[in-house]
Amino acid sequence: MGARPVLLVIDDEPGMLALVERIVRPTGFELVLHTSARDALAGLAASPADVALIDLQMPELGGLDVLKAIREIQPQCGVILMTAHAAVDSAINAVKLGALDYLSKPLDIDRLRQLLSQAREDAERRAALLAAENQTAHRLELCGMIGRSAVMQELFGLVRRIAPHARTALVTGETGAGKEGIARAIHELGPRRQRKFVTINCSAIVETLFESELFGHMRGAFTGATDHKAGLFEAADGGTLFLDEIGELPGAVQAKLLRVIENGEVQRVGSMQPKKVDVRIVAATNRQLKTEADAGRFRSDLYYRLNVIELAVPPLRERLQDIPYLTAAFVEEFSVKFHKQIDGVSPAAERTLMEGRWSGNVRELRNVLERACMLAEGRSLTEREIQSSMPSTTAAPPRSTDSLDRRPTPPRSDDLDAIERDHIIRVLAEERGNKRAAAERLGLSRRTLYRRLERHQLVPSRDTLGSVGSPET
Ligand SMILES: Nc1ncnc2c1ncn2[C@@H]1O[C@H](COP(=O)(O)OP(=O)(O)OP(=O)(O)O)[C@@H](O)[C@H]1O
Ligand SMILES: [Mg+2]
Repeated sequence: MGARPVLLVIDDEPGMLALVERIVRPTGFELVLHTSARDALAGLAASPADVALIDLQMPELGGLDVLKAIREIQPQCGVILMTAHAAVDSAINAVKLGALDYLSKPLDIDRLRQLLSQAREDAERRAALLAAENQTAHRLELCGMIGRSAVMQELFGLVRRIAPHARTALVTGETGAGKEGIARAIHELGPRRQRKFVTINCSAIVETLFESELFGHMRGAFTGATDHKAGLFEAADGGTLFLDEIGELPGAVQAKLLRVIENGEVQRVGSMQPKKVDVRIVAATNRQLKTEADAGRFRSDLYYRLNVIELAVPPLRERLQDIPYLTAAFVEEFSVKFHKQIDGVSPAAERTLMEGRWSGNVRELRNVLERACMLAEGRSLTEREIQSSMPSTTAAPPRSTDSLDRRPTPPRSDDLDAIERDHIIRVLAEERGNKRAAAERLGLSRRTLYRRLERHQLVPSRDTLGSVGSPET
């Protein structure tokens, strides 16, 4: 341990402070002395102590209250009480409340030195453990992604192995599972990490603009093309192009994308000149692309081309062991963001998190913890704070069958589809059937809304690729 350990001494008698100072000085502790418990506590949050030596009987604030306050403000600080009177009962009470030990006055100097050296060893051991734990945590992460479970460690290993070589990769997984994180890691760990990582979200692009966005266009190629424009392929030249939600790519563009991947050449719309590009392609999807391909809704040749390397990110419910580590990281992030001192979650709150359904996966867990940290009043998040931050669809069904305690049963995950369907119908009705307005209110692109309408059989489904025009309002 580098810095000297800190001993905080609180006693209303200055003579006692001077005595402790004489005894302790040679032991190498840095001393912080206070005659006022309130001042001492006020300073503790900013400059923590390793051990505190506290008088049990003080006029302003009793030693037991100081002990309780320290356990709140800085639980890892060891507390030793001093008592002048035969107040052994309260001293024993103090030990029950978490004090290391108590000393009666006049002080037994050897005993005090012994307690301090023990406390010092404890502090050093804690610091060493913490450092080792941090090191392990770092080794087990992948570019900031957390995953201690065997399935995630396996996935991280695969990413590390393929990242130096892969020309294309397909990342699959449910919404919020971490697909973009994996895509970025492939870029970061590959030979192109100094070059650009360009993202395109295929569900956010109007169908007619795809080609121009991806491949660029020449002046006058279509109405509104007032200038030459490079596409995202050219922008990502030498780097990585991340095609997010590739399942939303229109059929005609799929064919062109396949050609670019195979030839390494793009052609701007309106140009006859192919242009060499050197781009690594990472695609992501939360759909069953194989099923889509089998059903003729996605080109099989493109699917097989991308699927040479598939990185499947497992849903959070299949790796519950990751929840405590993700929770710790998110709580730390949000306690900084909200300027609060939050160290973690209570054991009951952790159980609640472990029992959640997490259909929105890590993103949803993160959102719940953000809300809980916003609400938080103490140093650890309570079960209540977690519960009131969880959507009812995520919370586990009530454990108790007691009829007095019966909350409405949260919907099962197969019911989520029905809820989504009802919600879409209601919003569409309120917008008098205007899909553009409905999509905006739902936070979806029109294309995505159109897909959902198809899935819920609210519009006739397409039979073949590209047979449907743009999703009109
Ligand atoms: N293993 C992880 N460790 C830390 N943070 C994670 C992890 N996985 C996901 N996250 C966080 O969760 C959020 C969602 O992750 P990401 O955007 O990668 O998911 P996604 O699979 O691309 O979701 P979508 O399908 O909705 O696009 C992000 O804020 C991300 O930082
Ligand atoms: Mg994503």
